[in-house]
Amino acid sequence: MKHLLARKAAEYIREGSIVGLGSGSTAKAFIEELAKRVREDGLTVTLVSTSVDSELKAAEVGLDKYLAPLWAVDRIDIAVDGADELTRDRLFLKGGGGAMFREKVVDYRASTLIIIAESHKLVDRIPARHPIPIEVLPAAWRLVADDIVKRWGGKAVLRVCQCGGKLGPLVTDNGNYILDWAPPGPIDPALEDELRGIPGVIESGIFSKRRDAVVLLADERGVFEL
Ligand code: 5RP
Repeated sequence: MKHLLARKAAEYIREGSIVGLGSGSTAKAFIEELAKRVREDGLTVTLVSTSVDSELKAAEVGLDKYLAPLWAVDRIDIAVDGADELTRDRLFLKGGGGAMFREKVVDYRASTLIIIAESHKLVDRIPARHPIPIEVLPAAWRLVADDIVKRWGGKAVLRVCQCGGKLGPLVTDNGNYILDWAPPGPIDPALEDELRGIPGVIESGIFSKRRDAVVLLADERGVFEL
């Protein structure tokens, strides 16, 4: 299903486009399908990545010569990214893979944003099944977690990983930590800005400002636009 979505999204890419590469397994499927289009249709593109992981994937499938650093481009024509949860009115929850900071930098600037997701990710309210990821300054993680829980309730935990054989905080591509916050109920989209008002918060996985995104979903019957 991820490849069906990815193939459909790859059809949107035009000759000469500056393309934002999202992160996660669905975005990786898109990178593979884009590589096929570049190979088979002789398409020339410029690629900016939202994570080291996606950059490595692009290099692995032969797209390395098209990669550019973010600072080298003056626009992003189209970005293709995944999501962990999404609602019908295009509120997105992202950051399951911890890449939401650069994803937001790229996705919010793209002239066209395409979100590709399997249909089970469509939910009535956010969060439904996942906590809200919040990227924080490492030294401030404890204070930020306390502030959030005091103000809105719920539970906020530091994301840890077994990295290099040692259990410790997961460090993002930007050198920060991630809090996973389970609020007591559905969130208001205004929380996206309110969270950023807490000193020590860098960015969250709440994406409420791309209501114009093209959303492609897939189920066993195929791909359809939301
Ligand atoms: C990574 C993300 C991903 O887009 C999100 O987690 C979806 O990933 P997947 O396609 O693997 O389900 O936001 O930070």
